[in-house]
Amino acid sequence: VAEDGTRVFDLTMQRGTSDLGHGPDTQTWGVNGDYLGPTLRATRGENVRVNVRNEVGETSTLHWHGMHLPAAMDGGPHQSVEPGATWSPQWTIDQPAATLWYHPHLHGSTASHVYRGLAGLFLLDERDDPELPDEYGVDDVPVIVQDKKFDGTQLDEDGAIFANVGILGDEILVNGTPGAFLDVTTERVRLRLLNASNARIYNFSFDTGLPFDLIGTDGGLLESPVALRSLQLSPGERAEIVVEAPAGTRNVLRSTPPDLRADFWQTRFSGGDDSVDVLELRAADTLESNEPVPARLATLEDLGEPTVTRTFDLTSSTEINNRAMDMNRIDEVVVAGTTELWEVTNISGVVHNFHVHDVQFQVVEATGMPTDHPTLTGRKDTVYVPPGATVRLLMRFDDHTDPNVPYMYHCHLLRHEDDGMMGQFVVV
Ligand code: C2O
Ligand code: CU
Ligand code: CU
Repeated sequence: VAEDGTRVFDLTMQRGTSDLGHGPDTQTWGVNGDYLGPTLRATRGENVRVNVRNEVGETSTLHWHGMHLPAAMDGGPHQSVEPGATWSPQWTIDQPAATLWYHPHLHGSTASHVYRGLAGLFLLDERDDPELPDEYGVDDVPVIVQDKKFDGTQLDEDGAIFANVGILGDEILVNGTPGAFLDVTTERVRLRLLNASNARIYNFSFDTGLPFDLIGTDGGLLESPVALRSLQLSPGERAEIVVEAPAGTRNVLRSTPPDLRADFWQTRFSGGDDSVDVLELRAADTLESNEPVPARLATLEDLGEPTVTRTFDLTSSTEINNRAMDMNRIDEVVVAGTTELWEVTNISGVVHNFHVHDVQFQVVEATGMPTDHPTLTGRKDTVYVPPGATVRLLMRFDDHTDPNVPYMYHCHLLRHEDDGMMGQFVVV
């Protein structure tokens, strides 16, 4: 913490070698280390500054996914950090407690930079958080899920041959660890799940059928917990769950075939038939007690009534509204102080999701997919949009106007994003 009260983080994007299950010499990238980066944490109302130093030898960026902040601080494709340079964005945390994350966003290179290991969590707290498991690493545990493909001892960056979704790996890392397990020492454990994979969609459940409480989505806590047995996350999405694993039991969090709502071949070549083990919970024979999940978690801010409707057709794997990303074209101009309805329709037949920078939206309606799913009741910044489906997203733009620097919206399957499935909006 600096003298003026600003919370300062020093991050260096660097190259290294890691043991990801194929010997110690796998070339990887990391933030302040060889693979992935530190968990950053700040409280609502705090001023933060991040000194981002680039030592990877290539231009990159670092984007704060899910953060409400000025566009010039967002770390998108316009805030590139040259090799050897340091970029120091600062902003005030002004949103509810949530599990956010950071990753590079250089146009055309996001997929490879994230795949090599540049990513980490950015946790936000609030002073009046409800009573929940919150001892980091003990009963409040990050679960960054990624799939990898290897060619000998090195990461294989080639995409799947028949699918156009990009890299689908057959080996799972949790927080950079293959074959991960967690020694559970408390009655309840809170897992902060992040799908930090390039393309894979997971459908999480426990092999034992253990139920869990969903307590939060991308943008923060739900109004009240929802008991579930399975939970689907597409790339970029997060969920917070609280699990009660009985003393002395082992329960494997795994992913079974997700419901992609795509046709036979799309499903098959987008990982829709795959099952993988993710994380084993090993509960001790005696567990320390911790608080049960409260019935009431949060009150969601009212987003108001929409006065503007925009439509976004996901027209291919390289275009939105029949246009590929152009760094020099502003696609949408939003006026601050308005609530908007964004209607996103996937007419491409291909598997996509949709992510919007700066805001947390509410899914108010969807056709062609179940709308009543608990994961859609919370605030989100990324949502799966199956082929043929339309989702209607309610979002409010309050502040951080800048006519010159755009925010992005895009598909978060990183190959699609790199290939042009992205657009730019300014808030004026
Ligand atoms: Cu997670 Cu535009 O990014
Ligand atoms: Cu983002
Ligand atoms: Cu896509």
